Amino acid sequence: MKETNTFITPTLETERLKLEPISIKFCSNKYVNWLNDPEIYQYLDNGGNYTYNSLFDYLSKYTEDPVFFWAIIIKKGNKHIGNIKVDPINKKNQSGEYGILMGDKNSWGQGYAKEATKAVIDYCFKVLELRKITLGVIKDNIAAVKLYQKLGFETEGTYKMHGIYNGKFCDALRMAKFNLEDPRVNNYFHQN
Ligand SMILES: CC(C)(COP(=O)(O)OP(=O)(O)OC[C@H]1O[C@@H](n2cnc3c(N)ncnc32)[C@H](O)[C@@H]1OP(=O)(O)O)[C@@H](O)C(=O)NCCC(=O)NCCS
Repeated sequence: MKETNTFITPTLETERLKLEPISIKFCSNKYVNWLNDPEIYQYLDNGGNYTYNSLFDYLSKYTEDPVFFWAIIIKKGNKHIGNIKVDPINKKNQSGEYGILMGDKNSWGQGYAKEATKAVIDYCFKVLELRKITLGVIKDNIAAVKLYQKLGFETEGTYKMHGIYNGKFCDALRMAKFNLEDPRVNNYFHQN
């Protein structure tokens, strides 16, 4: 894998979206409200107790020490609708852990998460030369599971009774997508 610390997190563009490196520039009451909205954080491990100041502190960390973490912005109207990241990246194993949060509920179901994720996967495989992107999702989070399946992520395992979400025990899935254009990945799958 290429040395990630030689990269500056770039701005990525798709047809409708711009993905800009996250920073304190994106701190807003709107973003705080996303993180305190039970419908948004119901399947996440954080949320419900954010303030403008705690979000500012969280974003300051990434402003000083950037990782592959982007704000998702609709180009038309320059509207911040969510965030996406691949962090941490494991350089030795050439893999990265993906996560997404679309905070603007009016933007759900319009293909924005899919469009942003495709651009990030493309960047991770073609530029960073990762061979595998991993993620964790609560099985009951149908919208997220469907999104990942449509993007070609496959379930690698299930953590039974992983945690309590919406007041009940839920399983968590570990999912992954491989860089099938990488000859090492192809060789591995041919030999195993
Ligand atoms: C999950 C989430 C990222 C989906 O974002 P989105 O922008 O609405 O998703 P998209 O519109 O890009 O949908 C992509 C695909 O997933 C499917 N999908 C999305 N929402 C769905 C739903 N509620 N039910 C069934 N399928 C759904 C769509 O069919 C779509 O496929 P298609 O384009 O081929 O039809 C968003 O709801 C979210 O951020 N939720 C809160 C935070 C969260 O749970 N994050 C994930 C943590 S693991």
